[in-house]
Amino acid sequence: MADAQIATQVPHVIRREDYRAPDWWVPEIALDFDLDPAATRVRAALSVTRNGDHARPLVLDGDGLTPLSVKVDGVEAQGWSLNGGNLVVPLGGGAHVVETEVEIAPERNTQLEGLYASGGILCTQCEAEGFRRITFFPDRPDVLSRYKVRMTADKARFPVLLANGDPIAQGEGEGGRHWAEWHDPFPKPCYLFALVAGDLVANTGSFRTMSGRDVQLGIWVRQPDLAKTDHALAALKLSMAWDEKVYGREYDLDVFNIVAVDDFNFGAMENKGLNVFNSRYILADPDTATDYDYDAIATVVAHEYFHNWSGNRITCRDWFQLSLKEGFTVFRDQSFSADQGSAAVKRIEDVRGLRASQFPEDAGPLAHPVRPDEYIEISNFYTATIYNKGAEVIRMMHTILGPTKFREATDLYFERFDGTAATCEDFVACMEEAGGVDLEQFRRWYTQAGTPRVSADLAMDNGKARLTLRQSVPATPGQSVKEPMVLPLKLKLFGAETGRAMGDEQLVLLKEDTSELVFENLTEQPVLSINRGFSAPVVVETNRTAADLAFLSAHDDDPFARYEAMQQLMLDTLVASVASGGTDHGAVIEAVRNTLTDPALDRAFIAEAVVLPSDSFIGDQMAVVDPDAIFRAREALRRDLGTALGDQWRAAYEGSIANRFEYSPAAKGARRIRSVALGYIAASGAQDAPQLAFDQFTGADNMTDRQGALSTLANGQSPLREQALSAFYDRYRSNGLVLDKWFQTQALSSRDDTGEVVRALAAHPAFTLANPNRARSLIGAFSVNQRAFHHASGEGYRFVADQLIALDKLNPQTAAKLLPPLGRWKRFDARRGAAMRAELERIVATPGLSKDSFEQASKSLD
Ligand code: ARG
Ligand code: ZN
Repeated sequence: MADAQIATQVPHVIRREDYRAPDWWVPEIALDFDLDPAATRVRAALSVTRNGDHARPLVLDGDGLTPLSVKVDGVEAQGWSLNGGNLVVPLGGGAHVVETEVEIAPERNTQLEGLYASGGILCTQCEAEGFRRITFFPDRPDVLSRYKVRMTADKARFPVLLANGDPIAQGEGEGGRHWAEWHDPFPKPCYLFALVAGDLVANTGSFRTMSGRDVQLGIWVRQPDLAKTDHALAALKLSMAWDEKVYGREYDLDVFNIVAVDDFNFGAMENKGLNVFNSRYILADPDTATDYDYDAIATVVAHEYFHNWSGNRITCRDWFQLSLKEGFTVFRDQSFSADQGSAAVKRIEDVRGLRASQFPEDAGPLAHPVRPDEYIEISNFYTATIYNKGAEVIRMMHTILGPTKFREATDLYFERFDGTAATCEDFVACMEEAGGVDLEQFRRWYTQAGTPRVSADLAMDNGKARLTLRQSVPATPGQSVKEPMVLPLKLKLFGAETGRAMGDEQLVLLKEDTSELVFENLTEQPVLSINRGFSAPVVVETNRTAADLAFLSAHDDDPFARYEAMQQLMLDTLVASVASGGTDHGAVIEAVRNTLTDPALDRAFIAEAVVLPSDSFIGDQMAVVDPDAIFRAREALRRDLGTALGDQWRAAYEGSIANRFEYSPAAKGARRIRSVALGYIAASGAQDAPQLAFDQFTGADNMTDRQGALSTLANGQSPLREQALSAFYDRYRSNGLVLDKWFQTQALSSRDDTGEVVRALAAHPAFTLANPNRARSLIGAFSVNQRAFHHASGEGYRFVADQLIALDKLNPQTAAKLLPPLGRWKRFDARRGAAMRAELERIVATPGLSKDSFEQASKSLD
């Protein structure tokens, strides 16, 4: 009996190998919404056709729906039943019209999946499985339908009614109501369905496509936000032009709308012709948005727009193929952003992001392949592995094929699979066919989890250099034995004395466990530059000395490799001082001095190159993470850099003051170096640093400078800290997105009392778990603050677990997304590890826990 009970509690595992084509197709659907926040009626008419020769009933997914009526071919149906929320309708024959009616309550939808209310706007989020919370339907991405949508709503509260496709008709109804009808001519899976009803205004524009069609563009927001939409609209136009130029992809409807809402579980959603966005990825003006925000807006607008081809015209056969659209689309948005400014800085930022989120995921209990084999809850698989490692996999194919063949291969892919639900295998097969390459072994990137490690040893013998490369892939959950991967490594040698390149860059495809390269006729001692441009998403270990790294940080002609050499030098220094308490900072100081004073380098690059690796990235290099020792070592190096290069930081700081805000790569670079320099001046302990920061804070004409100064003050002990924090709060108390920054800045503080501060902030009247951005700004930020979260008392773990248990009841998706930091217990000492496990166990034992959180917490315990 006990066993049976446990068995019913353990959620069902979905396996890739169990994929079966659908029993029924739904070529057409007509939806009729009678919208009301408290009670919305949804009538759906599905034309269904049997797929193949079988006798199985029609099964329509449903989640929390009660059928008010079920009709088949216009007649009240007999014999239907509910099976675990799904509607089962026995049908004879091959084709029918099945009609259902349900009632839902958007205002009570706190999960923000399906149809919900956000700040008076009704909107939808269906990916991955939200459509089944709106109406009964085969909620799987390989069922493609043509949609006709009719909406009726109160005209005063919901003057604007939007859906996918093109607007067809609208009119007045009774009792102050009105209606609108939208038809989408492109068959699509239900996860791309969207509707929006609200009191909205649009920033409109138009775009002429390459074949000369005019597309009406609209960015829809509430009236007070209208002035903050120009940047997003500009980014949309740039994206449309870029996709035509770089991929030959043209937009296909007469309208393209974007709606911004404040309550959203992630960044944005590519619904056909009607993207719905988290408002943080739309709204920007200099007073409220940082350069980072501006860049993120352009990237996310581009990402969702690019999905129109890589995601919508060609969708995924099943959710195991998620990276087919996400990895490829991230690669596309990264390339787009690289083309808008400094490609080198963009690559540095992307690699830093990969190392901060994907490498730890790949090394932890939730590691999974880019194409996973099983899941309990698909929402948990919108991960850095699917998105960012997935993008790296596409990038490697781009590297192996070269740009021309890669474009031929994507042309072939778009041509061959347009209008279908495809697989990762389909994509790779196009790369192989058009690229004329064999990617058999390369496919392991889709099946094997874990970050490969490469060791590269260069040895001189008799005027010859011998480079020995070895690779290994660490064991990951469920995959104890790994096969060698295909690793595209770009490399080059430089002469240690002359600084000259010794030959051209080579692309080496490392396919074996071990391989050896010999370089002959060398006239001087070579220094190895490897994995240039981060050509393979791997960890590289070399036998390069501190002097080699310092040399490369000054002479390498690949900017990424230059950055990387500096990072490695810093990392080696920091890891050594954590281990031995040593403080030999001379090599780092000299290398930073060279970079900082090199007139040939642009400021954005310099700013990236001189920032120390994060606490957590240092921790990732250690067998057992010691958060306090890491913090001390990093602070000591920051202080020494601040002191030794005091004049240079001052010069960089003063040399980058601007008269007026401007959003351009050069101006962004100036602001970035300025805030980095300010941080080092403060780290040096300079007496005037707090005042300098405070003056920047009060005098700034833009949020980048203001928030940069606030962060510096928030890390320090000066009384000006409180003054700045409360001035910031008072100024922005009615702006949710900026208040998020106020919470986040405090949660990321390096002060000793951050844990207490954060616990107090959770009781602040402006804090709420109901808004995902707010929850992430405090809980999410705190749990990546390595030293504060891992405080030896265990209070950090308890606090986060308490919050996640509370959040899970409201919004399981967002709770589960915030859980992974608690799961990294194997990386810490026994005491911390036990405290983390105890919290995971408490979460798993919580009555009524969602399957989202159950999957994350229980896998983290293994
Ligand atoms: N497809 C969306 C995007 O890439 C994200 C959807 C996320 N869905 C989820 N359940 N986490 O922009
Ligand atoms: Zn996406």
